[in-house]
Order: sequence, then structure tokens, then C-alpha cells
Amino acid sequence: MTPPLLTVSDLVVQYHRSGAPPVRAVAGVSLDVGPGEVVGLVGESGCGKSTLARAVCGLTAPAEGRIDFDGTPVRPLGVRRRDPALTRVQMVFQDPYGSLNPRRQIGAQIADGIRTAAERGEPTDGTTPQQYLTRVGLPESAAARYPHEFSGGQRQRIAIARALAARPRLLVGDEPISALDASAQAQVATLMRSLAVESGAGLLFISHDLSVVRLIADRIAVMYLGRIVETGSTAEVWDAPRHPYTKALLAAVPRADGAGILPTELPGDVPDPAAPPAGCRFHPRCPAAFDRCAREEPQLIAGGVACHLYAASDHGLQPLRSPH
Ligand SMILES: Nc1ncnc2c1ncn2[C@@H]1O[C@H](COP(=O)(O)OP(=O)(O)OP(=O)(O)O)[C@@H](O)[C@H]1O
Ligand SMILES: [Mg+2]
Repeated sequence: MTPPLLTVSDLVVQYHRSGAPPVRAVAGVSLDVGPGEVVGLVGESGCGKSTLARAVCGLTAPAEGRIDFDGTPVRPLGVRRRDPALTRVQMVFQDPYGSLNPRRQIGAQIADGIRTAAERGEPTDGTTPQQYLTRVGLPESAAARYPHEFSGGQRQRIAIARALAARPRLLVGDEPISALDASAQAQVATLMRSLAVESGAGLLFISHDLSVVRLIADRIAVMYLGRIVETGSTAEVWDAPRHPYTKALLAAVPRADGAGILPTELPGDVPDPAAPPAGCRFHPRCPAAFDRCAREEPQLIAGGVACHLYAASDHGLQPLRSPH
């Protein structure tokens, strides 16, 4: 097996607020992304996905745990400064309006990406901004134009071209399709997948849209209140979810045609991440909770689930109780 490109181990990221307990937005997460691998990260709003993405990109300091990228620890250097080696991690954000400069020609913005790779001391391979535009499905003539001349989906393609020009080893997309028209969503997601896989880069793709995640991810990680509660191959998680939270998420998704958006609300309230429930964080909302769940926090076991209903055994994951 190829060694992971990105290794997140027992990561804790917290936000400090005056006069209140810190919010542990990421509360002990371990996650790998390998070269050419697409990992989809899903979970309800506020569960810590963006915080995790920012930490992976070296924009937020971990309180505990570590992040390694290409064998080197990822650490922020200070406000607005990134380690030049971290330009091999490129991000694509939700809002393609905000991430492009409205007053500069698109070709010049893609050239910034090319320069980023050169500044790392890598010999250039001669790919021009026009060629990067072609790779993302736009005409070469777009280089001389400005962002406002394009649709949201096209602008997101431009943002992807700029990221690609920096020759990343890892692409991180934080809801990169949620601001796009339905017709552009699957196209942009599929494009991100094929560009990452072709170049041997990894892709961490955060999305509320399970139907799109299912389409492009090799693996899915499900996050709840700062923790990964289940992870597995896309087929495993989609067809045979184990964690009661994953089951609830999937059950709430309309899937007659296999499609679906994460529900905005499951039954019960999402607890305050500053004061998470004792034991399993999901137990107050869990239909299968029993006494142990309120006492003891389950760890992610070898079979890929963090739930007291299961135990790891020599034969894989063994259900200890009926998960309803
Ligand atoms: N700068 C901040 N200061 C204090 N708390 C914050 C800050 N940013 C995020 N949080 C809190 O941290 C938790 C995780 O937020 P985060 O943005 O990582 O979630 P998310 O999963 O990306 O949500 P969404 O799906 O809505 O984008 C939330 O409870 C949020 O309110
Ligand atoms: Mg977010």
C-alpha cells in the first residue's frame, strides 16, 4: 500500500472565547488521505469540518495531536503566513466570487499559481495558464477576461485551475460545490476528482451533498460534533452504514434515484460543542443507546466505527447488540 500523503492523528482544535469554556470544534480526529485517493467528509453543520480543513492547510494551530503532510509536520507559522512547503496543499472554497480577484485578468491569477510552484524551487513544466484553463474545460480565451464575465460554475473551474497550477499534492475542497447550480455541481465535483487522480494528488472533499460525495469519493468519513464516528469505503458507508448516526443521516436522505442532500435537521438538537454530552456524543439522540453510551466515549475501532454496539474481532466488525 502507498503510504498516506496526509496523516491526521488524534487532532484537537479549539476556539477560545472570553468568559466561556473553549469550543473543541475538532475533538480527537484521526484521518488519512493517500496519493490519488478521494476522501469525502460529511456531517451536519457545525460538526467541525471546516475547522479540520483549516488545520490541514496549516491555517489553524492544533491544540493537541498532529498533522503530517508528506512526512513533515504541518504547523501554522503565524497570522497569514504559511510554510512555503504547504503550498503543495491547495484549497478550493465554497465561494468562487470571494476567492478570485475581480480586478485581475484570469490568466494572471492562474500565473500566480504557476509562480507558487516555482517559488518552491520546482522546475516549471511549461504548462501555460491557457492550458490549465483547457484542463478545467474552459476556452483559452478566458485568460484575457475577468471573473465577472463567468457563471458560478465557471468561476469555480477557474479557482480549480489556479489551485492546479500550484501543482498540489493535496487538494482540499471545503463545500466547493454548495454555491453552484445543480447542473454544475456534479460536473465540478467530477472534474476535481479526475484532476486529483490524474496528477496523483489526494483530494479531501467536504460536502453536504451525499449523492455527489458518493459519486466521487473512494472513502467516506462521517463526522459528528468534532469526532469521526464512521469511516469506510464509499460502498460500505452508503450501502451498509453501521453507526446509528450514519444510519440516521442516510435514512433522512431521499434516495429513490440514489440522490440526496444531507438533512438540515435530524430529530433532536445538536448539542453545544462547548459542552458535549458525556460518553458517546451522539447518545442523547441515538435510538440504540444503552447505559454504557452515557458513561464511556467510544473510540474508532479497526472496522471503522466508533460505537459501543460493535467490537473489533478477528473476523472484522462484530455487532454486540442489535443496532435497531
Ligand atoms: N472562529 C470561531 N470562534 C469560535 N467558535 C467557532 C469559530 N469557528 C467555528 N466555531 C465553532 O466551531 C464549531 C465547528 O465549526 P465549523 O465551521 O468547523 O463546522 P462545519 O462542520 O464546517 O459547519 P458548516 O457545515 O456549517 O460549514 C461550531 O460550533 C462553530 O460554531
Ligand atoms: Mg464549514
